[in-house]
Amino acid sequence: MWLESGILVRASGKGARAVGSELMTTTTQPLATSVDYFESIYADAQGDASRIPWEDGHASDALINWLNTVAPSLVRCGARVAVVGCGLGDDARALIHRGYEVTAFDCSDTAVHWAQSLDPSNAGRYVHANLFDVPPRWHHRFDLVVEVNNLQSLTTDLRQEAATALANLLTPHGRLLVICRAAETPAEFVDGPPWPLTESELLEATALAGLVPDSPLSSFSDDDDPAVLQLRAVFRRA
Ligand SMILES: C[S@@+](CC[C@H](N)C(=O)[O-])C[C@H]1O[C@@H](n2cnc3c(N)ncnc32)[C@H](O)[C@@H]1O
Repeated sequence: MWLESGILVRASGKGARAVGSELMTTTTQPLATSVDYFESIYADAQGDASRIPWEDGHASDALINWLNTVAPSLVRCGARVAVVGCGLGDDARALIHRGYEVTAFDCSDTAVHWAQSLDPSNAGRYVHANLFDVPPRWHHRFDLVVEVNNLQSLTTDLRQEAATALANLLTPHGRLLVICRAAETPAEFVDGPPWPLTESELLEATALAGLVPDSPLSSFSDDDDPAVLQLRAVFRRA
């Protein structure tokens, strides 16, 4: 959980802990999804990744599993890949090492500089950008768009706009990979962030963005203790 009793804690079940009482009064819902909110978390961490609630120092296990099993038949080596809300760049680095042409972006300037410092030889691949206002040259540019744990961090009123923005990045035959926390209860009843998504919520948002599932959605528990229910889904244009 990020928010428990008003205190922001680690997203991972592993080592859940408060990251700062100063955040207790700032984790209101409107602030929670703003650029300022994310920037303040990265800036307040002052270079200490253990103070970033969702940062665990490695790429998403579900992403790695997908890259090892499904991606080779779906996305050619050298394909253009966008990593949305890349944070410190763990997922982006895994994709770069597999030979994809990666553009990783985040709305937090501090996160982008931090990611660049962790991967100096690929610094140019980490870019400051807002999903809701990407450079026009990115429209319809990416063969694969990787979206890990960002939709769940947006208030529900932004989901549709986010899904449309994600779809807008795809080439006509591109794929969108979504990995997010899964829920059985609609997010409107959840005291987030995060606001996990039900399968129906994800399908509805992506359908309205003109996308259809490329394969059945996969729901699974991660390795955290306690385990967190997750969804993995691949979409293409209808
Ligand atoms: C919950 S974190 C997940 C980070 C990373 N994807 C991961 O799984 O570790 C959400 C990330 O999305 C970024 N973000 C939030 N809103 C964004 C937006 N509108 N455009 C780009 N990045 C955004 C935040 O700065 C943050 O790095």
